[in-house]
Amino acid sequence: MCCLGWRRQGAAMIEDLWYKNTVIYSLDLETFMDSNGDGIGDFPGLMQRLDYLQALGIGTIWLAPFQPSPNHDNGYDISDYYTVDPRHGSGGDFVEFMHQASKRGLKVIIDLVVNHTSSEHRWFQLGRKDAESAFRDWYIWSKQRPDNWQSGVVFPGVQESTWSYDRAAQAYYYHRFYKHQPDLNMDNPAVRREVRRIMGYWLELGVAGFRVDAVPFVIESTVPGRSQGALHFEYLAEMREFMQWRAGDAILLGEANVAPADTQPYFGSDSGAGGIHMMFNFYVNQHLFYALASADIAPLAAALEATRSIPPHAQWAQFLRNHDELDLGRLSDAQRETVFARFAAEEDMQLYHRGIRRRLAPMLGNRRHLELAYSLLFALPGTPVLRYGDEIGMGDDLDLPERDAVRTPMQWSDEPQAGFSAAAETIHPLIDAGVYDYRRVNVAAQRRDSDSLLTWTAAMIRLRHECPEIGWGEWELLPIDVPHTLALSYTWRESTVVTLHNFSEFACEVQLAIKAPGGERLVDLREQAESRADDAGLHRIALDAYGYRWYRVGRLI
Ligand code: NOJ
Ligand code: CA
Repeated sequence: MCCLGWRRQGAAMIEDLWYKNTVIYSLDLETFMDSNGDGIGDFPGLMQRLDYLQALGIGTIWLAPFQPSPNHDNGYDISDYYTVDPRHGSGGDFVEFMHQASKRGLKVIIDLVVNHTSSEHRWFQLGRKDAESAFRDWYIWSKQRPDNWQSGVVFPGVQESTWSYDRAAQAYYYHRFYKHQPDLNMDNPAVRREVRRIMGYWLELGVAGFRVDAVPFVIESTVPGRSQGALHFEYLAEMREFMQWRAGDAILLGEANVAPADTQPYFGSDSGAGGIHMMFNFYVNQHLFYALASADIAPLAAALEATRSIPPHAQWAQFLRNHDELDLGRLSDAQRETVFARFAAEEDMQLYHRGIRRRLAPMLGNRRHLELAYSLLFALPGTPVLRYGDEIGMGDDLDLPERDAVRTPMQWSDEPQAGFSAAAETIHPLIDAGVYDYRRVNVAAQRRDSDSLLTWTAAMIRLRHECPEIGWGEWELLPIDVPHTLALSYTWRESTVVTLHNFSEFACEVQLAIKAPGGERLVDLREQAESRADDAGLHRIALDAYGYRWYRVGRLI
């Protein structure tokens, strides 16, 4: 026990691994804050809101793609990697934003979308028109239509194929996503060199790392007609090595929805070389929603154990919702049906035959359930990632197509257009009806209300920062006799934090013994209360319906 928290992290000091104890806030510039009244969010607008983000307590901003884009996939179709889309401001605005963020101690990570470009990108245009152009081989072509031209689509029901014919090239090109997103040929060393240049460019401008889009597809060699190409983890290693030379503590946060058994090579070796630093834990996310839907925590506990074993430098990014659909593809059919029945009973709420296109608040429906979900997010082994607007309980707009349902503008106030913009028309419409109407749900009202979800979230973020045991320590699931309650314990440098979460709509009493030194005393970190163990060493702790508690073992502070 004495060496818990001192295990090897390569040669790194564990406190240098900042990404393990930060709170990440994800936002899309276009829907966050519009400064110039054109209805589209921009860098000057985001700068006006940096004080809000700092006061909320987050440590890292994750910016969705903001480079020039025809915007057929919410900016994930980039047509120039080296500049800012004029709709969002200028390069000067970006640098000013980075400066202002850094003044407030906020780190910034940005999306690295290099599995594909926009079909409007100059590289694709040059490559398709001229077979002799060096850019032809930057993409993946087939003279004949491959037999599997319709397999492997990521957006079933919307996307028709993964190979499309290009008249200029007189050949089919490969696109894992929509057809206006041709895949780059990562096997071409010139493409990989260009990816490093892109990374180098933004690192030089001060970003703290990248959220790497679609990692398994980035490293896959596509062969026409073959369903699964070889995965080149050495390409990840190249990116990592390059980045670390340029910026020692910058990180790669991978989007890779892979089975637990397949995660190891993504994280690289135990010595900390080769792989990505962080990966979204899609596996736990899906089982967490199953637990929220059913109060059956056994699959969630199993998912946590299944994703336990990662190298010391590696870290999970835990999240509830993101800008995409809530993907339930890794649940069993019965589990997925349970989640659909509880949170997305209408077909319109479901997407791509596997997911849910709703925000968190409308899905969970009540404040207690919402708090349970968020409290657990902060308590999971890993780094919490919040989605803009979830801190005030924003709703969704199911009239918008596909994933746009969860991409409505931030609700700042009850003023016209929610204080987001002075324009008559905004990039996506505001939610202006029903329970989630911006006149009811907005930052200005909640920041002046000590009982609001926003006030509560800020307090939870602060609590998470006060518990470095979670990010840097070792964790275990404590055995308890109540089947709907998850008990997690973290220890780092002889300090232990224990959290309890009751997924049931009924109150319960939990009995548990804490073996850590001082375990006879549990100090509640959210209320003026503590628990003392009885003579048999057992704590008896009452939890409300959807109740949760955070304790530190043996000491007040
Ligand atoms: C994953 C992103 O999260 C999603 O929004 C996007 O559509 C695809 N990658 C393609 O870039
Ligand atoms: Ca604007």
